Amino acid sequence: MPLNATPAYDTFATHVVAWQKRYGRHELPWQQTCDPYRIWLSEIMLQQTQVSTVIGYYQRFLERFPSVQALAKADQDEVMPYWAGLGYYARARNLHRCAQELCTKWGGEFPRDPKQIATLPGIGRSTAAAIAAFSWGERSPIMDGNVKRVFTRYFGIYGQPNLTATENTLWKTADTVLEHAPAQLDMTAYTQGLMDLGSTRCTRGKPDCINCPLKATCYAQAMSVQHELPVRKTKKVVPERHCAMLILTNKNKILLEQQPSPGIWGGLWSLPKYDDADNLRIACTHMGQTTHHAQKMASMLHVFSHFKLHIEPWLILCETPVVTQTNPDRSWVNLDQLSQMALPAPVKKLLEGLYPEHLNADLI
Ligand code: ADE
Repeated sequence: MPLNATPAYDTFATHVVAWQKRYGRHELPWQQTCDPYRIWLSEIMLQQTQVSTVIGYYQRFLERFPSVQALAKADQDEVMPYWAGLGYYARARNLHRCAQELCTKWGGEFPRDPKQIATLPGIGRSTAAAIAAFSWGERSPIMDGNVKRVFTRYFGIYGQPNLTATENTLWKTADTVLEHAPAQLDMTAYTQGLMDLGSTRCTRGKPDCINCPLKATCYAQAMSVQHELPVRKTKKVVPERHCAMLILTNKNKILLEQQPSPGIWGGLWSLPKYDDADNLRIACTHMGQTTHHAQKMASMLHVFSHFKLHIEPWLILCETPVVTQTNPDRSWVNLDQLSQMALPAPVKKLLEGLYPEHLNADLI
């Protein structure tokens, strides 16, 4: 087949749709429904998180919160355990706020217009378009990380990532594709097809161009520049932070502290955290807790998207539980309850090592 470096606006969408119907994914749990609540939940969970991780969380969340109303009625503390381990906890807090706003301002129903959906907490333009396309076949383009890769390669878009000018070019291109597509375009298959192409064919490291439906008119394939596109972000040095964590236990109880919102672990229950071991000792002394028998445990590293956190855990087994009234965010928690608490991933890992019988692989 002759290679043509000129991208074809008029056949792009129909090729994607035909390919999706034959080779795309059809069995994902959120593809078995047109319920905007379920689709919204899946799209939020799938931001920055792999499909294989999301599936279990998605099912557990829906069993506990089967509708917008059920989610809106719940306390945020009831929601967080169902997100613990997925990361990016602002997503869960926004999800809860959004459910409440849907109930107070929209009669418990999602608006159909993607522009109106995008006014809701935690929902951006691309997620709003995906919800509207999967729920009602609305004709509005998406532009997530996978789709950006397909578009930059196919159309030869060389802008620096995350620059407004590059974002504008990508959205404009996506709009133009839809303007050239047939009036009866299957928007569910098109939207899913772009996601599927980006994650199964047009992958970052090893694009499978031979099996791509767009190969005949793809700019990157014609020019052999798949590995130059999308243009890479200039690598920034990830800062490293250190902290000491206190594992203070008394018989079958452990001291936990609910983290403030907003904050990286806002709403989750963590171990009390200090800048270093000296500060941890001082705080213990203030609580009336001696630290002579404190045991330093193996350090661990947790990598966030924008920094690395070195954690030095200190274990103290105390005879009498120190008083926590001075700090209302702290609470002595029974070890039996640990599996139901929303714990940040590194805290869960630490406690799993200490109390495997209370925290095994099952989340809840
Ligand atoms: N990533 C974002 N949305 C998705 C979807 N609907 N299916 C698979 N992966 C996705």
